[in-house]
Amino acid sequence: MTAHDLAALIRDRAGLEPVRMGLILGSGLGHIAGQVEGTAIPYADLPGFPHAGVSGHNPNLVVGTLEGVRVAAFGGRAHYYESGNPAAMRLPLEVLKALGAESLILTNAAGSLRTDMPTGSVMLLSDHINFSGLNPLIGERTDARFVPMTEAHDPALRAGLRDAAAAEGVHLHEGVYAWYSGPSFETPAEIRAIRTLGADAVGMSTVPEVILARFLGLRVAAVSVLTNMAAGMSAENISHEHTKAMAPLGAAKLEKILRRFLRDGV
Ligand code: HPA
Repeated sequence: MTAHDLAALIRDRAGLEPVRMGLILGSGLGHIAGQVEGTAIPYADLPGFPHAGVSGHNPNLVVGTLEGVRVAAFGGRAHYYESGNPAAMRLPLEVLKALGAESLILTNAAGSLRTDMPTGSVMLLSDHINFSGLNPLIGERTDARFVPMTEAHDPALRAGLRDAAAAEGVHLHEGVYAWYSGPSFETPAEIRAIRTLGADAVGMSTVPEVILARFLGLRVAAVSVLTNMAAGMSAENISHEHTKAMAPLGAAKLEKILRRFLRDGV
């Protein structure tokens, strides 16, 4: 099925009103999709959608209203490390675009490289480093593949998220996210290396979706929930279990920011 066929199928089930914004909810954050008032469509009903086989995700697309804004919330994403395909989220993002969305907010769980950003804090991405060297547009044949990435993280969306955090009294850090392919976590030497290169947080997602979103003409911004100090930075154990256990600490902050951001007009 093409993105347009899938969008038609979704409109049949969830109604014709165009979607304004997409939300992609990362590890331990999928419950926010459940707060959207609307229609939940399991990814399994959407041919070509990734299976989102990572525990801690909620593999549904929920189309409906959150704080008065028509959104499409993805309760989980496909990661490069599940399939070896860095473009695994291309079809879902094409569908989002076909549903009428203008912008996309990405969320993820990440490791912190800064001692002033402890576990449980939230960080707005000012920019990213594609440390994996992979790219979801490899093989794309049109000149549209030469996507400018100078202001990939949209200044106006970022300002709106910053304002929303301030209005809610939530401290929103800001920094650079490095994409490491996973699924193994990083070594302490790798963390020291990317810190030297200018990274503030590290994770296994988001960068390919930012690239795809810009390719599709969607404005995009991303927020990390910091679920641990990165490898070698503390005695904290680093595991997927730990990520899922710690995500709710930051998720409550993220939820306040997102709701206020939507309510105050996007
Ligand atoms: N590294 C990579 N991805 C992550 C981490 C980490 O430390 N924590 C949560 N996701």
